[in-house]
Amino acid sequence: MIVPSQISLGFSPDDVVVVTGAGRGIGRSTAINGAAIGLKVAVWDLDASFAEDTAKAIVAAGGRAVAVTADVTDAAQIDAGLAKSAELGELRYLVNNAGPASASQLEFDEALEMSVGSMHKVATAWMGRGRLDDAALVNVASVAGNVIGTAPEWYPTAKAAIMGWTRHLAAYRSDVVRANAVAPGMTDTRRLAGFKESDVGQRVLTRIPLRRMATPDEISWAILFLLSPLASYVNGALLTVDGGWTVTQ
Ligand SMILES: NC(=O)c1ccc[n+]([C@@H]2O[C@H](COP(=O)([O-])OP(=O)(O)OC[C@H]3O[C@@H](n4cnc5c(N)ncnc54)[C@H](O)[C@@H]3O)[C@@H](O)[C@H]2O)c1
Repeated sequence: MIVPSQISLGFSPDDVVVVTGAGRGIGRSTAINGAAIGLKVAVWDLDASFAEDTAKAIVAAGGRAVAVTADVTDAAQIDAGLAKSAELGELRYLVNNAGPASASQLEFDEALEMSVGSMHKVATAWMGRGRLDDAALVNVASVAGNVIGTAPEWYPTAKAAIMGWTRHLAAYRSDVVRANAVAPGMTDTRRLAGFKESDVGQRVLTRIPLRRMATPDEISWAILFLLSPLASYVNGALLTVDGGWTVTQ
């Protein structure tokens, strides 16, 4: 079992991370576990109460956090969110996690803008604040992007695009940022509520070698590792965290 207080992954005590969509699910785990290993966390979410809930949990555990209500599809809210986050210090790290659920009823163009377009907007505004030594970002993609074709049509398209753009950053913006991505498999968050109990869920779980969904914590540690100084030579990688599901496809 991991004991977070015994690891720091090489982060420095004053390092700050911006985590988008950190009010719930994978983002919340990343924020809480990041704080547990010493990062100051700007907890971004569309929903103010979700952001405040995560920030309060961090502070109650002795960590440092600020809640930021920001919709990552909105440029003005991103700029305001970055300004508020900077109250914690220089923003060396970014986790682009927020994105619409695959079950959302969205038009193709709109969905791409909301998923990969929003990550691009946040990262561009963040990088535009100026160069910081050893800055790093992690984008949250999905096994639905590069390995498995899933419905609806926009979801695997957007998730593959996130990885293509991550590779671009790694190749062409390495003067500014070290960029990697995580591809979670099925993860037990509210957007998959009830899935593992359903007939189809049970069938899918038998195809995953580890026979279960990931916990949000398990995805968060992969994100934090890629972000961290311990991963200082990892650039342009896609880390699949899926219990071995896709190697069996
Ligand atoms: N759960 C899975 O099985 C799974 C699998 C692969 C990839 N992912 C990816 O992981 C990421 C997080 O998913 P999750 O399952 O933790 O979701 P979740 O629904 O549990 O939490 C997402 C959080 O993001 C916030 N959010 C949504 N849109 C936002 C926006 N425009 N601006 C700011 N905040 C916003 C929500 O309010 C919510 O608090 C997503 O990018 C998702 O595509 C999830």
